[in-house]
Amino acid sequence: MKMRWFFLICMFSGLLAQAQSVPLQWEPVAPGVWKATVGQPDKVDLLTTAGGSPRKEALQKLGEAPFPLPQAECSAEIKEGKVYLRFPLQEEEQLFGLGLQFKTVNRRGQILNLHMDHYQGRDDGRSHAPVPFYVSSSGYGVLINSARYITVYAGTAVRVNSQHPPRVYDRNTEPDWSAQPYSDAVEMLVPAAGTEIYVFAGKNSMEAVQRYNLFNGGGVLPPKWGLGFTHRMPTLSTAAQVKAEATAFNEHGFPLDFIGLEPGWQTKAYPCTFEWDKSRFPDPAAFVKEMQAKGIRLNLWLNPYLSPASSLYSAAKPLSGSHTVWNGLVPDLTLPAAQQLYKNIFKTQHVDIGVSGYKIDEVDGVDSWLWPDVATFPSGTTAEQMRQVYGVMMQRLTTGWFREKGVRTYGLVRASNAGASSFPYVIYNDYYNHRDFITALCNSSFIGVLWTPEVRASKTAEEWLRRMQSACFSPMAMLNAWADGTKPWSFPEVEKQVKDVALLRMQLFPYLYTVFSQYYLEGKPPVRAMNLVEGFSFQHQSQKAALDGTENPYRMALREDVKDQFMLGDDLLVAPMFTGQTTRKVILPQGKWYDFYTGEYVGNGNIIEATPGLDKIPLYVRDGGIIPMIPPVTHTPAPDEQLPLEIRHYGEAESTAVLYDDDGQSYDYQQGKYMQYRLSAKKDKHAKWQGQVVIENKQGLKVAYKNIKWRFMLPESSGR
Ligand code: GAL
Repeated sequence: MKMRWFFLICMFSGLLAQAQSVPLQWEPVAPGVWKATVGQPDKVDLLTTAGGSPRKEALQKLGEAPFPLPQAECSAEIKEGKVYLRFPLQEEEQLFGLGLQFKTVNRRGQILNLHMDHYQGRDDGRSHAPVPFYVSSSGYGVLINSARYITVYAGTAVRVNSQHPPRVYDRNTEPDWSAQPYSDAVEMLVPAAGTEIYVFAGKNSMEAVQRYNLFNGGGVLPPKWGLGFTHRMPTLSTAAQVKAEATAFNEHGFPLDFIGLEPGWQTKAYPCTFEWDKSRFPDPAAFVKEMQAKGIRLNLWLNPYLSPASSLYSAAKPLSGSHTVWNGLVPDLTLPAAQQLYKNIFKTQHVDIGVSGYKIDEVDGVDSWLWPDVATFPSGTTAEQMRQVYGVMMQRLTTGWFREKGVRTYGLVRASNAGASSFPYVIYNDYYNHRDFITALCNSSFIGVLWTPEVRASKTAEEWLRRMQSACFSPMAMLNAWADGTKPWSFPEVEKQVKDVALLRMQLFPYLYTVFSQYYLEGKPPVRAMNLVEGFSFQHQSQKAALDGTENPYRMALREDVKDQFMLGDDLLVAPMFTGQTTRKVILPQGKWYDFYTGEYVGNGNIIEATPGLDKIPLYVRDGGIIPMIPPVTHTPAPDEQLPLEIRHYGEAESTAVLYDDDGQSYDYQQGKYMQYRLSAKKDKHAKWQGQVVIENKQGLKVAYKNIKWRFMLPESSGR
């Protein structure tokens, strides 16, 4: 009897709680972007911390769009100081994003606690970029602008009063019974008394991502040198060893644009002083200058925790948190005074002598060494919020110092979050699974961050080459030799192939730079998961028998991910090979596709088998794809350099493309000082291919290319 009352009371209070859930009130904040506010949001949130301003013109160009969700079904309630959110899901929808995860791409059916951390091998939400943004295959995105550990039930929870309840199965007799029945909603728990929520419309998922990136200030356009090859030195290297390394790269004819110095450049590390160790680097300013004269820039490793040996220590103490990291202070970087302290030392010691950027380490986790959640900070910002945004604050601060000097930077960071797409930082980590690194590349494209599948060491020459091939088709082509001093030529048996792929990246520079310009101008990520690609069919995602989405729709969540291939820009499909593979499947989106190397037709909307041999990474170009290339150089083009240009056209379709260029180092492009070469490939009346290049609006910029030649990569069928 008692039990029955208990149940009745529970049911009644449950109904009451549901009754309090109210539809969110949306206000338009940009074309196709809406904001809703629930309760009293925190002072520190993700977007304010990143501080980006929407790229209004570009958003206007994308245009107005209707609100993409049934408004009455997007609801919120506040209970006991926490926000409960619910967004509807249609049966066929797939969800992407929700942090930089490494194993899976589809989020529908997952539960994530978005918590800044070093990735620990499980897609549970703990990640280097726990971005609370998801994008749906139905063409919209949702962002929770809160710097809290948000729990997301991405299509897992079923409400009693669900509009679309799952069918009830009998486990005794029905083999399709599942422990995870179909769910018609995304539900989220934000442990704060309020939050802002943003919705981004799109005619497809790419457009929603574009709006998201543009709203946050657009994607980053790195300096030209940032797209060259980079090598990181062993921890305790000296200036002499760094110079010798640069010479060795030169002798091997291997490209190199910037070198990274690991912890040993400082007098103390873990925690840090940020001051040069004069025993290893006797004259830092002269050293940086000498390297620059060789065309090589320098990037400095650091973690932001201040050593007791630092001259800043006593000034920083009252501006720091209650807890230390490795006995170092954790400055409260929300405080202008703390920012200024760091600025003084970083500017005079590094930026002003010509250092090109930073590698900001250890701003993600791990729990056992980072400040605990019980830590307090002088500004009143909680430890949890601090953890979610510390990496973003460091990105913003450091970027600002370079900006003041009028030079672009490009570096590395181990923690990022929503709103940071315009920062010139690429995420990396200590995890080292090659396949998972490619999944992370795919996932980075949904959430406005960049990721590098850096190369460190390998067991075999084959693994070395395969990893190098992937790194060369990523936002930062990097060998991180901090631990064991590897060199690109460490495996002599594949030295040539490693060099070839690094030089191919250099050849592709004009294409790559243009691809990044799209990130800034249009919000299109440079690396794109296949789910963002037009013509990529949903059915391709499962090679199993067709799933029954009506009878047993929970299975939707079990679809196979496509996470081992991606697009680099509009035209190039990259399908990395992994150790032990001699052949692999490649899923081609709709439309004709051609082999990058030979121009041969390979397929159209089907699954092909690639057998590229060890030397090559499979690359395919869309019909009509136009790929501008320079010769295999060892440095990215310098401001005054003019290089020959080969413009490749693939396939049978007449087409046009844009080749972007600017001064490659300043921020003038943000004032519109950039030029676009209009490239067009057409057949003349004798059916002979003709290519045309028209430079639009030179803006007083130097033309970077000479001897421009077209190369039509004609398919076999045309009788080439
Ligand atoms: C790690 C980092 C490595 C390397 C190392 C140096 O935290 O992920 O890439 O920089 O520190 O101690």
